[in-house]
Amino acid sequence: MATRHIISIGDFDRSGIDRLLDHARQIDSKKYDRNALNGKILAVLFFEPSTRTRMSFESAIARLGGTSVSVGSVDACSMAKGETLADTIRVVSGYADAIVIRHPKEGAARLAAEFATVPVINAGDGAGQHPSQTLLDLYTIRQSMPIDKIDVALVGDLRYGRTAHSLASALSLYNARLHTLSPTGLELPDTLATELTNKGMEIINHDSIEEMIGMIDVLYVTRIQRERFPDSASYFNVASSYRITPELLTKAKEHLIVLHPLPRVDEIDPRVDESPHARYFEQSRNGVPVRMAMLMDVMQ
Ligand code: NCD
Repeated sequence: MATRHIISIGDFDRSGIDRLLDHARQIDSKKYDRNALNGKILAVLFFEPSTRTRMSFESAIARLGGTSVSVGSVDACSMAKGETLADTIRVVSGYADAIVIRHPKEGAARLAAEFATVPVINAGDGAGQHPSQTLLDLYTIRQSMPIDKIDVALVGDLRYGRTAHSLASALSLYNARLHTLSPTGLELPDTLATELTNKGMEIINHDSIEEMIGMIDVLYVTRIQRERFPDSASYFNVASSYRITPELLTKAKEHLIVLHPLPRVDEIDPRVDESPHARYFEQSRNGVPVRMAMLMDVMQ
C-alpha cells in the first residue's frame, strides 16, 4: 500500500473530510481504543514556533498509546550544521512511524514526503497550507451548524495566512460563499482566488466588517503574519488595522460563531471572549480529537 501523506487539504475530497470529522467526534465522545497506536512513534519536526499544533499532536499520539520524539529547537539539530531537509527526512524516517513537519518554506512538507519512507503530515509550510488546522476549523463549525452553503468571512492576512488558504479551499467543497476583508496588499493570492472561482465559489470582497457582519455565519479572524514580511516597516503599515469588538458583534446573526486559529495579537478584543459567539478556545481544544483521527488514519 502507498504511504499516506497529508500535505494539503486538497488531498481530501468532501467525503474523506466528513469521514475524518465523524471519527473525531467519536473520539471526542471517548469511544476509541486507547492502545490504537501502542508502540508507534511520531517524529515532531518543527522549524517554526508552535504551541497548539505541536502540543496537540503530542497529546494526540500519547492518548492513543504512542510516543513522540523531537530534536527540541532547530538550533539543536543538524540542519544548523548545513544538512539538507531531504537528508534529515531520510534519517528521521528510520526513527519514527510518521513525521509531522512545520517549516518556514512553502512546499517543504511536499518535499519531505518525497524523501520520507513513512507518512508525512504538514503542520504548516510557510505561507502555503495548514491542513490539520482546517480539519479542526471545520470540526468546530460543524459543532454549531451544518457546513453546507454557509457564508464565511475570512478577515486579516489572507496573503500569508496558511490557515485561511486551506480553509478557503476546503469550503469550496461545501458550496460556501466566501466574504473577505484584508488590509491592502494582504488579499487572498490571485492564483487561489481564481482556482476557487473556477470551482464555482462566490467570493465577495468587503471594505469593512460592518458591511458584512449581518450576512455571515462564521467570522474567521487571522493574525497578520509578521514573520513573513520583508521588513518591520511594512508590517507596521498594516498592523492593528482591524479589530473585532463586542460592539461590532451586536449586528451579527444570533448563531454567528467567531473563530481564530490563534495566537491572536490585537485583532480580537478580549471582551469578545465572554460573548456567546466566541468559539476560538473550543476550536483549539478540538485540535486533539481531530489530530487523533488524522494519526489513526495515516499510522494504523
Ligand atoms: C497558525 C499557523 O501557525 O499558521 N497557528 C496555528 O497553528 N494555530 C496561525 C498563526 O500563526 O497565525
